[in-house]
Amino acid sequence: MDIKDFIAGIPKAELHMHIEGSLEPEMMFDLGRRNGIDLPFDSVEAVRRAYRFSDLQSFLDIYYQGANMLITEQDFHDMTWSYLEKCRGQNIRHTEIFFDPQTHTDRGIPFRTVISGIHRALEDADRQHGISSGLIMCFLRHLSEESALETLDSALPYRDMLTAVGLDSSEKGHPPEKFARVFAQARDLGLKTVAHAGEEGPPEYIRNALDVLKVSRIDHGVRCEEDDSLVLRLAEQRIPLTVCPLSNTALKVFGHMREHNLKRLLDRGLCVTVNSDDPAYFGGYLNENLNAVHSALDLQRGDIVQLVKNGFEASFLSGKRIRQFLRQVDEYVAASVGSLIPDG
Ligand code: HPA
Ligand code: ZN
Repeated sequence: MDIKDFIAGIPKAELHMHIEGSLEPEMMFDLGRRNGIDLPFDSVEAVRRAYRFSDLQSFLDIYYQGANMLITEQDFHDMTWSYLEKCRGQNIRHTEIFFDPQTHTDRGIPFRTVISGIHRALEDADRQHGISSGLIMCFLRHLSEESALETLDSALPYRDMLTAVGLDSSEKGHPPEKFARVFAQARDLGLKTVAHAGEEGPPEYIRNALDVLKVSRIDHGVRCEEDDSLVLRLAEQRIPLTVCPLSNTALKVFGHMREHNLKRLLDRGLCVTVNSDDPAYFGGYLNENLNAVHSALDLQRGDIVQLVKNGFEASFLSGKRIRQFLRQVDEYVAASVGSLIPDG
């Protein structure tokens, strides 16, 4: 078995995937036809050609345009279902997905339409394919605290569909502490918290996400490396980083995959996980991300196993479910030993 097959077959968890970022150009056109909306592009290829980003903001501008194609409950269901089919194909056994309600409610789409469509697909995938999931509601950090508080209020009737709240969109100039009160309210509701921090923003944003928002994991977090004492803290407390390698190179957080710090952070004992972020925009789903870091960073098979195990360990599943998944990973590794081709 070569490394690509090994990566494809190993049971995996995904913890950092924006469902709106799984919307492939083909489906954008389908939804446009269905809903009578014109896309400002002539073809699927023309859309893909526009995916050349210089930084996070240049991506977000296009990403929010794509999300405008989503109108009905069925649209949200179909987008989510399409990602879950990918999960099935890539042996992703558990996924905790983000959604951005404000992107839709600000266009007049009811909160209920968004969450019902996504939730129905998650339930179908659990029943039909045994894929377990969690749903993480993100606040757009470029919008006001007031808007985030209103969004949390809209979510109250659907509290039981949510696992956690998160924070995404333009990082620089929008520090975690802007959302201290809304995150406190979310925690009072028994929700877990996560936040994007240290993708483009400074290490201080990672510290404040931990200390002020009391997050269980940091999304991205790669800029922690600029602050040694922060790296030590993340390692000692096993605070997970949900790293997204293809996203980081597409958005020029790193100039080339060979410069990515994932392996250095892993070697320093951090609970690094690999994820796809916005797979329809950044050139690949979870397997493609693992393949990319494996080849660019000279990873060993053991590193891949560690990254995959970290994904389950860092999930919001119960301890019992995590141990079951870790056993399945061990069984997979043991079964594959006999058929390995050494890959260095
Ligand atoms: N960072 C911030 N916001 C986002 C991202 C990201 O990588 N993807 C989708 N929204
Ligand atoms: Zn993200």
